[in-house]
Amino acid sequence: MPTDPKDLGPLFREMFPDRRFVVVSNREPYEHKWSQEVGEMEVRRPAGGLTSALDPLLQALGGMWVAWGSGEADAAAVDSHHRVQVPPENPSYTLRRVWLTHHDIHRYYLGFSNQFLWPLCHLRPDLTRVRSRYWERYRRVNRRFADAVLEEVQGKDAAIWFQDYHLALAPLLVRARRPDLTLAHFWHIPFPPIDIFRLAPQAGYLLRGMLANDLMGFHLPIFADNFLRCAKRLAGAEVDWEARTATLDGHTCQVGAFPISIDIDQFRQAAQADGVEEQMQRIRQRYAPKGGAIGIGVDRMDYSKGLPEKFKALEFLWDRYPEYRERFTFIQVAVPSRSDIEAYDDLSQKVDNQVREINERFGTGDWRPIHLIKQSLPVDRLAILYRTADVCMISSLQDGMNLVAKEYVASQIDGNGVLLLSLFAGAAEEMTEATHINPYDPEGCALRIRDALTLPAELRKAGMRRQQEALTGIYDWMDDLFHAWGGAAAGSAAARPPRAASGDDFENDGPFAAGAWASERT
Ligand code: G6P
Repeated sequence: MPTDPKDLGPLFREMFPDRRFVVVSNREPYEHKWSQEVGEMEVRRPAGGLTSALDPLLQALGGMWVAWGSGEADAAAVDSHHRVQVPPENPSYTLRRVWLTHHDIHRYYLGFSNQFLWPLCHLRPDLTRVRSRYWERYRRVNRRFADAVLEEVQGKDAAIWFQDYHLALAPLLVRARRPDLTLAHFWHIPFPPIDIFRLAPQAGYLLRGMLANDLMGFHLPIFADNFLRCAKRLAGAEVDWEARTATLDGHTCQVGAFPISIDIDQFRQAAQADGVEEQMQRIRQRYAPKGGAIGIGVDRMDYSKGLPEKFKALEFLWDRYPEYRERFTFIQVAVPSRSDIEAYDDLSQKVDNQVREINERFGTGDWRPIHLIKQSLPVDRLAILYRTADVCMISSLQDGMNLVAKEYVASQIDGNGVLLLSLFAGAAEEMTEATHINPYDPEGCALRIRDALTLPAELRKAGMRRQQEALTGIYDWMDDLFHAWGGAAAGSAAARPPRAASGDDFENDGPFAAGAWASERT
């Protein structure tokens, strides 16, 4: 198992000799912004599990990352081929930007991706919005991504790795033009049960897009099972449950579970860098001036993260167990996200109100129960907060994995902390030594916080040590995934059907043309 990113290069070359490595995602790993100084640019790292997990891999392997150029100064930072080398301090791979118009952003990103697929996959069909213009634009933008990829790999062999729910159709659009490429796709969010996924009017199209990959990866076996069941019933694929493959139109897609992780060393090093102890001291003085324990939460401001449920549990704690007033302080980092969507804006207001009410109810002269930090923090500051916190609380109502759980454990240098982890975060499947909580049960959660705060130090240390020993890193994830992908690519090369779509078909919607596919079947 590789623990060093340098081992990944040889592994990739062994699996895919002479192929270029291309990652494709909606969100880019680096955004350029104009700084306050006139004419100067700054670089920002967008929040979210996808970019934070994949950037260290690309840095280790080199290659290309194709993504939406979402920063206000992005266009000024690229060359004439829309490319820029990143990271800025140590350029090690190429970022190729794809440009989206105002309508694209509204209909493809905020619309179909985040007001349809995201709530559907997080079991919130009540929050979905079905609009034909969202779907139409989703198809168009997927084609734009596919075109960018095709342009970049013209005349070259390549292994293309698509990411997440924004790009379900792009794999088929690429395969139609270049059946010789090997394609994989990782779905970073839950894949819902068939009873939910079939609510999508375009379920069959989405599945066909995804089935064009050689490998479809999910975090958990249950998500892979859900996908296979949908592939069979809604797209008419032939499923081999033992081999975990789905075959459609002569192409076989291997389906597997690969729980993603983090760069453990990055957090460990940041949590013990020079001066960290003094900073921990300052954090305690600032946030918990009366002493006592500190709790931490770090989430995007998203309804899937269960923030109101978390604060309800904290309210129960200070209400039922007044001895924790002034003795337990909670710091919640809530990273602003997708705020142009009503459900996100509503949540943000709800959270503000809830925190204000709790602070008014329990706060004292110089003690505030909850500190809400509504901004994204860099890894070095997060790692210090994680190390300082006696408790980390993750209350997701549905979560593909949740990397914060792993970041907390990696940053616990002193090993005193307790991780309270929602049963409904994918991470709970692996992190069996964490204290599992049910965020729908605020009284139960309050009790678990109290248990954590009263647990003897030796038990806390022993528990955290076991969790640290069990933690596998991002490079193990990649190793598993590359092996599975290499195997799937070899199988599919042997069975590859002849080049199918002509250029004309493609321009007329090719594989998505009306009637080209069977409509949804149940
Ligand atoms: C989740 C998704 C990612 C996404 C991230 C941030 O982790 O799986 O695909 O990039 O959230 O969301 P955003 O909408 O800002 O890209």
